[in-house]
Amino acid sequence: MNTSPNGTVAWEIVERIAWVKYNRPDKRNCMSPTLNREMAQVLEDLEFREDVGVLVLTGEGAAFSAGMDLKEYFRETAQQGLGAIRKAQRQAYGWWERLRWYHKPTIAMVNGWCFGGAYGPLFGCDLAFAADEAQFGLSEINWGILPGGGASKVVSELLPFRKAMYHAMMGENLTGRQAAEWGLVNESVPLTLLKERVTEVAGVLLGKNPVALRATKDAIRRVREMTYDNAEDYLIRAQEAADSFDGEGRKEATRQFIDEKSFKPGLGAYDLGGRPS
Ligand code: COA
Repeated sequence: MNTSPNGTVAWEIVERIAWVKYNRPDKRNCMSPTLNREMAQVLEDLEFREDVGVLVLTGEGAAFSAGMDLKEYFRETAQQGLGAIRKAQRQAYGWWERLRWYHKPTIAMVNGWCFGGAYGPLFGCDLAFAADEAQFGLSEINWGILPGGGASKVVSELLPFRKAMYHAMMGENLTGRQAAEWGLVNESVPLTLLKERVTEVAGVLLGKNPVALRATKDAIRRVREMTYDNAEDYLIRAQEAADSFDGEGRKEATRQFIDEKSFKPGLGAYDLGGRPS
């Protein structure tokens, strides 16, 4: 494992999957300003590497992330004044935004505790898989604040209204299984099988046309806020823009299906022929 200068983030690349870990297990991987700065740098360093096709965000030890660091992110910046508070917010929100629009497909692998601020990067990742044993909580109400840092937005985006309201107001945790039932994550599996399942999903993504994947993930996020007509128009233009990056991809796929009859798009991806991402 490689680590960031202060050791708050660890990462390695294995067979084109970048495994990026919150690395403050003793502090349940809560997000300090140092961690936020270092995570931003690691994400930037990995984003356009040719040997990275998919990025997985997970946590070392018992936690995915226990949210914002109540001491270093909240109390210590408050003691330094508004400028420090805003700077810390920009650093945190900055890398979550980067994740939302990341060039490569991203997967959150929620191995344990996932609280409050951690919902930002959870939503930032395109897909999310949890351990059955994981615990998800909007604990803010338990210590006297509202779910900020995007967390209220995340549950409003991902959960039905009543469930979002209950989750935010009651301060009760969801298990990984419940989080999957409620739609906060795609699936949950026993912790012992989590990495295997995520590796399997990442492997499928690695077999898809990377230009199409980027266009697809951006499209799914963008159209949420558009009218139907605007979305239709955006999608025409987004596909044409994608064609300008990789006009040959769809032609080759069409050839393999119509002429060569070597694959069926309804049943899997066409052969990329060793094409790098
Ligand atoms: N901010 C600052 N420190 C935190 C933290 C956070 N969000 N979450 C955990 N820690 C620290 C604890 O203070 C403790 O530090 P210490 O060893 O110096 O005393 C250490 O991490 C271990 O935490 P502990 O509470 O002993 O672990 P646990 O396994 O018994 O419980 C949690 C785990 C996640 C349930 C518990 O730590 C917790 O409730 N954390 C806060 C979660 C939260 O409300 N986050 C929302 C922030 S937006």
